[in-house]
Amino acid sequence: MSLLLMVLLYVTECVFTLPAPSRVFMESVDMRHVLKWRPLQAACSTAVQYSVQFQGEFELSVLNGSWVDAPECQLTSDPRCDLTFDLGSDSNYSLRVRACCGAATSAWTELGLPFNRRDTVLTAPEMSVTAVGDSLEVSFRKLPLNAAVQVTVWRRDHEAVVHWMPAEQRLLSVSGLQEALYCVRAQTVLQDQLRSDSTDKHCVSITGPDAPWRKPTAVSLSVVFTAGFLLAVFWCVAHCRPDRCKTFFRKEPLPHTLRPDWVIQIPMSPEEEELCERIQVCANPKTCPPEDLRP
Ligand SMILES: *[C@@H]1O[C@H](CO)[C@@H](O)[C@H](O)[C@H]1NC(C)=O
Ligand SMILES: *[C@@H]1O[C@H](CO)[C@@H](O)[C@H](O)[C@H]1NC(C)=O
Repeated sequence: MSLLLMVLLYVTECVFTLPAPSRVFMESVDMRHVLKWRPLQAACSTAVQYSVQFQGEFELSVLNGSWVDAPECQLTSDPRCDLTFDLGSDSNYSLRVRACCGAATSAWTELGLPFNRRDTVLTAPEMSVTAVGDSLEVSFRKLPLNAAVQVTVWRRDHEAVVHWMPAEQRLLSVSGLQEALYCVRAQTVLQDQLRSDSTDKHCVSITGPDAPWRKPTAVSLSVVFTAGFLLAVFWCVAHCRPDRCKTFFRKEPLPHTLRPDWVIQIPMSPEEEELCERIQVCANPKTCPPEDLRP
């Protein structure tokens, strides 16, 4: 009887000398589950330490309601515990934490409602979109474990196409696109039930396929044009007299209003007129009149 009294006294003393942690809550974002509580303001010669335990449906029904120590959160001084890798199934988990100061321990404080990782809050993924040739490359930073990403791609006046990508993949490549402005939106989806918000739309211009023949063709075309131009210049230098070159390069007829001035200012000598005529008439040698018939 006295022994029982002593035990009771010891238990109550323990509970009252060290208050149990309060405000225990679960912060679960993007499948990262962190249990938090208010740090203890107790008079303790050393730092207050905390220990966390969990109990899933397996421990509850098969292991006679036993509790499991969260391995990373035994006698830690942080008022938080990352349970991401401990809560490994979609069952309900009860969670509890207690404080320790030297030999004294507090009572356990249990999380108000069991936690289920299906209650995690999904945030819109961080996405970047780049155009590579005729492809779109959509990449993501930090996706939740076991999630999938739904990527919607569309261009104006065309139906949107939905692509699915497992989170581990991180990078989605959509190829064979036309030259146009494409827009992309993405959303994280967990087990077909839980959806994050959608990202803002990101739009990029596809500039067309980086076909292997394109560059060589452009290069050879410019070589041909340059060679042709140079050939024409050399031909002109070799065959033209300076005064005839002038007649070649005089392309545009002058505006009507200026014509009388032109005629007045530059009267042509008969010889020059003759030369000009010969060039025009003999463009095609077959149609040329015989030499002696020329004026
Ligand atoms: C659970 O309790 C029963 C009896 O109450 C016992 O037979 C069994 O071994 C216990 N199981 C475990 C895992 O402790
Ligand atoms: C899990 O918890 C939710 C609410 O917290 C409850 O509705 C549900 O029935 C529980 N599931 C099991 C298998 O106990």
